Amino acid sequence: MMGKPRKCLLGTLVYIFALLLLLFMVVFVIIPIVFKYSIEIQRSIIFPTWATDGDTDFSDTKSFGLKGVRNFYVTVDHKDNVTLGAWHILPSTVLSNAVDDQYYNYEEILANRNYNIIIYLHGNGGLRSSSLELYTVLRQYFQIIAIDYRGYGDSTNKEITEANIVRDIVNFYKWIQAKTKARIFVWGHSLGTGVSTHTISNLKAENVIPSGLVLETPFSTITDVMERHFFVKLISWLPWYRTTMLNPIIYNDFGFESTKYILDVDCPIMILHAKDDEIVPYDLATKLYNTAIKNRNFTTQGNITYHLFEAKGLGHMLIYLEPTLPKVIRRFVEVCIDFENKTHNTTAA
Ligand SMILES: *[C@@H]1O[C@H](CO)[C@@H](O)[C@H](O)[C@H]1NC(C)=O
Ligand SMILES: *[C@@H]1O[C@H](CO)[C@@H](O)[C@H](O)[C@H]1NC(C)=O
Ligand SMILES: *[C@@H]1O[C@H](CO)[C@@H](O)[C@H](O)[C@H]1NC(C)=O
Ligand SMILES: *[C@@H]1O[C@H](CO)[C@@H](O)[C@H](O)[C@H]1NC(C)=O
Ligand SMILES: *[C@@H]1O[C@H](CO)[C@@H](O)[C@H](O)[C@H]1NC(C)=O
Repeated sequence: MMGKPRKCLLGTLVYIFALLLLLFMVVFVIIPIVFKYSIEIQRSIIFPTWATDGDTDFSDTKSFGLKGVRNFYVTVDHKDNVTLGAWHILPSTVLSNAVDDQYYNYEEILANRNYNIIIYLHGNGGLRSSSLELYTVLRQYFQIIAIDYRGYGDSTNKEITEANIVRDIVNFYKWIQAKTKARIFVWGHSLGTGVSTHTISNLKAENVIPSGLVLETPFSTITDVMERHFFVKLISWLPWYRTTMLNPIIYNDFGFESTKYILDVDCPIMILHAKDDEIVPYDLATKLYNTAIKNRNFTTQGNITYHLFEAKGLGHMLIYLEPTLPKVIRRFVEVCIDFENKTHNTTAA
């Protein structure tokens, strides 16, 4: 009679212990090992294309409430047959001529040196149709080319790695450059800041230098971002943490080490970040900024400006709401033109 409840209690304890052990094994052993060996899991976390709307019809630009936007495609990799979908968003100064003219000559605007171009590279959860509010701000100063990476939107779905995406965008950039006399700026958001920075670094090897680079909510490296995630923090004390969770990201080519590539950016840079960004904590932008300040020569490579906005709800996605943004962009364009005047002899050609 006396033994029974105790046995029961013991049984319950054993049961709880077994459950905890199982939980421990799953969280601290099985998940890290599965993560380490599954490139596809890593890819689907860094590039969650599965979470973006696969059925979007980008050619029906009016359905997005847009005017003066052309949908087009560029084959950036002939060997692998990779074609990227893009939008060409006219600057607002020519909009009134374009809206009622279905034969409007977009190519002529693209070629025109009077209309600065900005290439927009979205974040890993975005599409070229995700930043309509920002485009409304940007088109006051630029014509915008917004591009979907391979695997996103209606771009060709071929193997996504950092190197492949960057090679695609390098080729897209050169395609634009061959068609225009206008200045070309690059704007990256979130993961797009990693793509932008690496792309510009690779373009430098071919003597191609853009006029300016804007990094909206950038980070230092992808592994730094991962280390801020609560689950990764939870297991960060494990001896096998680095080899299972971080190193595979680097050797499988998802690392986006912007702290390295930013040193090759030979044009003025502007960083925009908000203190209440919970997806990419702003100290990672500060780390990138400090690396650039310390190691770039701003006389020969261009200045770097860092706008850190107060915690007032802008977060990771709403920087377009910042009231000073238009002024900040105008000023940056001036800085870039000024730098160009100082470093290139434009009167020669
Ligand atoms: C390239 O891809 C397009 C569309 O996906 C397809 O129609 C075409 O046949 C492909 N070309 C080659 C050479 O594979
Ligand atoms: C930056 O480059 C200029 C021109 O080459 C040089 O005079 C200057 O000393 C460099 N500044 C630094 C901090 O290295
Ligand atoms: C570089 O940018 C900083 C911050 O905007 C500014 O204070 C500084 O005067 C600039 N330096 C040059 C040489 O333009
Ligand atoms: C740059 O040079 C051009 C022509 O030489 C001049 O019109 C323009 O005002 C200059 N811009 C700046 C910002 O110094
Ligand atoms: C620019 O190039 C032209 C022609 O080569 C030369 O005459 C001029 O002095 C140069 N200007 C500057 C500021 O280097």
